[in-house]
Amino acid sequence: MAGQPRLVRTLAALQRATARLRQTRQTVALVPTMGALHQGHLSLVALAGRRARGVIVSIFVNPTQFAPSEDLASYPSDLNGDLAALAGSGADLVWAPRSATMYPQGCATQIVPGGPATVGLEDKFRPHFFAGVATVVAKLLLQCRPDVAIFGEKDYQQLKMISAMARDLDLPVKILGAPIVREADGLAMSSRNAYLSPPERALAPTLHRALAGCASRIAGGAALTGVIAEGHAAIERAGFVVDYLEARHADTLQPIVSPQDGPIRLLVAARLGRTRLIDNVAL
Ligand code: PAJ
Repeated sequence: MAGQPRLVRTLAALQRATARLRQTRQTVALVPTMGALHQGHLSLVALAGRRARGVIVSIFVNPTQFAPSEDLASYPSDLNGDLAALAGSGADLVWAPRSATMYPQGCATQIVPGGPATVGLEDKFRPHFFAGVATVVAKLLLQCRPDVAIFGEKDYQQLKMISAMARDLDLPVKILGAPIVREADGLAMSSRNAYLSPPERALAPTLHRALAGCASRIAGGAALTGVIAEGHAAIERAGFVVDYLEARHADTLQPIVSPQDGPIRLLVAARLGRTRLIDNVAL
């Protein structure tokens, strides 16, 4: 389906538009984003269009998931560019609330997720992050009431946290994961890649190369701890500061010591200059 999605900026307009969408299309999918859309986001929109007949994309740079020291002020934002990127994508509605609409004065309730949100990965380095994400995603789901909501495996711990939250709170929505979309050189697409200087951009694919190298050595039978230690050293030699490189159980995200302990996901977060990159691969 081609055409320009309709931009909605107030809760009253959203309620009218979603009621009409549900009536005409029966099933509705939501793709939550913070904008600065790239092909990774658009792959989620395409999947949404295959899973439901009506598609809503939300664009909201959520202040509560950024710490004061983080990049909220510089986070890329281009609503007109995003609307142009969504033309012909199959999206019907773009829900782009203003901050005061999402968090009116006096808004004082937060969802604090446990389980996969407290396993010592992103939560260890960004302690404020998952409560901010859980709260805004719960609000987006209640505002849009989709049948299906799509999240990328790029933010693997976030995907697991949201699936657990939907299950734990009996939210009437099916959470679906979508594979990571990469640049031709392997770098996972991210809105934050725009921060990379040309020399940093040239180094950035090292992260995925190291991750893929670790995965194939573990699959080939090499001992997990040694492979992880060497991968860590290789990423630091390339000029990154590593926050974590870990093998975790792909479902629970609990630490794992041997491939016999369950399906493995390798997850990494590392900083290149002022840019923090995350990536992960299945084994
Ligand atoms: P944002 O970083 O804009 O990402 C929106 C969605 O796109 C997330 O589900 C993310 O995992 C997915 N995504 C990003 N890059 C991707 C890639 N290269 N391949 C596949 N999917 C990719 O994640 C957030 O926003 C926010 O935390 C949000 C869930 C919207 C809550 O504020």
